[in-house]
Amino acid sequence: MSVHIQNSVRQTTQTIQKKKLNGEKIAMLTSYDFTLAKLVDEAGVDIILVGDSASNVVCGNDTTLPITLDEMIFLAKGVRRAAQHALLICDMPFGSYQVSEEEAVRNAMKILQLSGADAVKLEGGEEILPAVRHMVNAGVPVMGHLGLTPQSVNQFGGYGLRAQAEAEAKKLLYDAHLLEDAGCFSLTLEKIPAALAKQVTDELHIPVIGIGAGNGTDGQVLVLHDMLGLTQGFKPKFLRHFAELADDVKSAVSDYVQAVKDGSFPNESEQY
Ligand code: KIV
Repeated sequence: MSVHIQNSVRQTTQTIQKKKLNGEKIAMLTSYDFTLAKLVDEAGVDIILVGDSASNVVCGNDTTLPITLDEMIFLAKGVRRAAQHALLICDMPFGSYQVSEEEAVRNAMKILQLSGADAVKLEGGEEILPAVRHMVNAGVPVMGHLGLTPQSVNQFGGYGLRAQAEAEAKKLLYDAHLLEDAGCFSLTLEKIPAALAKQVTDELHIPVIGIGAGNGTDGQVLVLHDMLGLTQGFKPKFLRHFAELADDVKSAVSDYVQAVKDGSFPNESEQY
């Protein structure tokens, strides 16, 4: 039995931060279009992320690198029209914040201005601090993202677990504190050991949201198409399928094809 939770308040960076103080877990999911985002919002999610995972699940690319700023803004605009309650965060795509802090702030402002998103998320630690500080000073709320940072896949050489070695774990903890000090309102941790994620969560004052980072974080995020069982051939250990929609979609489409071919669709009541 599923519980339908209707969020009555519009979430803000402040209401999200209060949840950590109150010990209330934060539920975050990605969305990339109006129709699904409306369902996600109405079902009570706290944060909707227009993730650059759109590059994979919407555009069919192998990595998140090809998606552009204009494409992210286009997707976020549709999600904005649907998100009445959830805080809306839009990922800054690869190449939109690494060149200079001036360009990073300009692009972050463009996202907020043109899409109506409430905040941006960007990947990285110490190396992106100047950009984060500039954005925060300009009034742009920023969520950090550490651990497995898919935009750096060509440096990592794959999508394996991060921060297993002590040196990398220490660096991640250090970067997490730097991001908090630079003004990030929250932080995503992707695919790192659960004990490390819990330590970061316990040490930081800002909410920490995990994906593949265990149960000790302040909240969880998943890619919508993955948790709905729409993505085929991708089932890492951390992913739970809350539905098997790929099977439902295929079965509905094949029923439709059959009904068209045998002439049973449309019937008399389905015509004018
Ligand atoms: O792009 C994305 O979907 C993300 C989540 C995996 C956190 O960054």
